[in-house]
Amino acid sequence: MDITYRPQVSASAPGKVIIFGEHFVVYNSEAIIAAINRRCFGRAEFTGNLGVWIASDVEMKSNPYTIEHAAVRGEPSNKKLLEPLSTFCRHIIREYALDVGLKIYIKSELPIGVGLGSSAASCVMLSGILRSIIRLNHGEEISSTDRKWIYENALYGEQMIHNKSSGVDCYVSTYGGLVHFVGFTETTSIKSQPLPFFLINTRRSHETSELVSHVRRFSRNSSKRFEELTSDATAICSNGVKEMANGSLEEIGRLMTENHKLLREIGVSTKEIEKIIGICSRCGSLGAKITGAGGGGSVLVLARPETISAINGALKGLDLCLEAIKIEDRGLTLD
Ligand code: MEV
Repeated sequence: MDITYRPQVSASAPGKVIIFGEHFVVYNSEAIIAAINRRCFGRAEFTGNLGVWIASDVEMKSNPYTIEHAAVRGEPSNKKLLEPLSTFCRHIIREYALDVGLKIYIKSELPIGVGLGSSAASCVMLSGILRSIIRLNHGEEISSTDRKWIYENALYGEQMIHNKSSGVDCYVSTYGGLVHFVGFTETTSIKSQPLPFFLINTRRSHETSELVSHVRRFSRNSSKRFEELTSDATAICSNGVKEMANGSLEEIGRLMTENHKLLREIGVSTKEIEKIIGICSRCGSLGAKITGAGGGGSVLVLARPETISAINGALKGLDLCLEAIKIEDRGLTLD
């Protein structure tokens, strides 16, 4: 395929937090998910040699989540992500018969395996770069057809990493904002009051696919109970949508804690997460829960400013701290 060569193509895509409904959304329940102000950045240069070469500074244990703290290169965790990413790029290059080789540099504010959608954001960013090479002129707006292509191909890439994913992480990373999913096909943007969210990175990484398989076994072995829990998760999401528009922060926090109890019952919490959530609750947080697959990863906390120093003081003993995050309206962007 003929393409217009440019010196380089750059893109970035946000990570996400799941506010309500992780795991249950895989079973067609509802979920509320937000893009966050932590991004994965990529820059691709054309090379003479055919092939794809990727370098990344992605690291998994950084807290706080800044590029400076994520400057570890060539770790096994890093390779594990980079191999499927370059396979994904090669697949698209082959499918569209692109006569290019690419050197891609990734810089990410999203640690791997802590529930913040680092794999999805990497795939969306790469899919954006590839779409730009295939079809877009420099500075051209991303049309809705392009964005759909970017989302669908990113999802294909993400499934190389996580096998069976619902697609919600890639969707939010592509489109941005705060989204209500009903199953993973019906999506509505939510307008919300400001929500004082914080993250705690446990620095225990997880394999999303293993946790999804664990929940699948639970759903088979305890099918009746799983059905009840799924219907509770759906009710929490429906109430969550109402409360986010203009309801009370107390009620949103309470729903988050209720949602966490469901996640604990399906076996994706850990002793450490329970300890962290106990600390947050005793120090006056409005609510706290796992966000994403669990088994470690990150805890999402809703808390008023006046309680932050007490929570941080109590978390010090575990060498952890709160980090403020914001909902990000921008999804994938091309530079
Ligand atoms: C992972 O971020 C969210 C899960 O619900 C899996 C998925 O939806 O693909 C655990």
